[in-house]
Amino acid sequence: MVKLTGSNKIYCAVFISGRGTNLKSIYNYSKKRYSKIILKLVISNRSNATGIIFAKKHKIKTIVVNYSNKLEAEKKILKNLKNNKIELVCLAGFMKILSKSFLKYFKHNIINIHPSLLPRYKGLKTHERVISNKEKFSGCTVHFVSEKLDSGKIILQKKVKLLKLDTPKKLAKRVLKEENKLYPKAIDKILSNA
Ligand code: GRF
Repeated sequence: MVKLTGSNKIYCAVFISGRGTNLKSIYNYSKKRYSKIILKLVISNRSNATGIIFAKKHKIKTIVVNYSNKLEAEKKILKNLKNNKIELVCLAGFMKILSKSFLKYFKHNIINIHPSLLPRYKGLKTHERVISNKEKFSGCTVHFVSEKLDSGKIILQKKVKLLKLDTPKKLAKRVLKEENKLYPKAIDKILSNA
């Protein structure tokens, strides 16, 4: 568990696989005077993730991990988390599932953002499923990562109303806008309670 005292900030790593809009919002939060994190490391399983370009531009250390061997990949990640004294991991569009042993060895918090109102619509293609089920609302959730996919304790959620002519793309765009606001709030919340 993270322990914060006085004005201390903790080192945070963000894991990505692609675009990186949530990475950007976490970075912007980290730059606020009141923020409780220092964004020290960005880890990606893809060398061409757009988020990597953003991280490099802002002089955040980046590590690309080859996932052809999951065990080796996780070993490399753990080593880098340890060497950089990371105490909070934020998964932000990271398309790999962390193993049970990884979760056991990394003793600090790992949180994730998911584009639905969990526990509903775990997994992929959430917007497609929400629309075909004619839901009135969808949204996004920041939650702790546990062994079961998208099932850890919920930290914060934000509802998004469905519109008559919604498509998965249109809904994804509105949900993403809320995700980008929700992630920093969730980080702030868990570290305020620490
Ligand atoms: C987000 O929709 C997030 O909820 C999901 O992957 C997407 C990542 O988007 N897990 P971005 O790379 O942060 O823009």
